[in-house]
Amino acid sequence: MLFPEGVAIDGVTGSVQPATARYAKRLSELRGLFQDERAQERAIVDRDDPVVYEVIDYRKAESDLCFGTTIMSPGKVGAEYYMTRGHFHQRRDRGEAYYTQSGEGLLLLESRAGESRTVEMRPGVCAFIPPDWAHRSINTGSEKLVFVWFCATDAGHEYGEIRERGMRRLVVERDGRMVVTDNPKFLGDGSKLA
Ligand code: PA5
Ligand code: NI
Repeated sequence: MLFPEGVAIDGVTGSVQPATARYAKRLSELRGLFQDERAQERAIVDRDDPVVYEVIDYRKAESDLCFGTTIMSPGKVGAEYYMTRGHFHQRRDRGEAYYTQSGEGLLLLESRAGESRTVEMRPGVCAFIPPDWAHRSINTGSEKLVFVWFCATDAGHEYGEIRERGMRRLVVERDGRMVVTDNPKFLGDGSKLA
């Protein structure tokens, strides 16, 4: 049986107490994600295989609802900012919300039909992710980006599609500014480029 409880979330460190699970993704586990593969290999060595992001869960299998935090380090690989893998949900009728606690970033979304959108991530903004939109978070700032996510427990993560074809847009730094550009390596149906 489940009982109510208060879960302490630190908006700066992203700690969740009590938590039920956590994982970290290091740069060496994200091969194929960034455009500049040589810059990534160099960064793995030079930066001692840094943690790009961590995810901490409060997830009870018997509940319909779960939440947790994602803590993203600042950094770049080539011109691209550190980002998450990005995914659709296995269940196409499940959305999500991302409530940014600290740092600054961009949430990049893509509908199944191929439409791209972005939502700014900054403290006080809760991003709505509709069902069946792929989503990827990008730390465009110089501090940690920490956000709380809320989702249906049965939503599931579907990584294969985005891993294989990429997303239509990239978020890069150009002349010291963040720019959203087309992904030249995108492997989807070109006619659907928005
Ligand atoms: O469920 C979510 O959307 C988040 O908890 C993400 O899983 C988290 O931000 C890590 O991103 P990804 O799962 O794309 O690696
Ligand atoms: Ni998600």
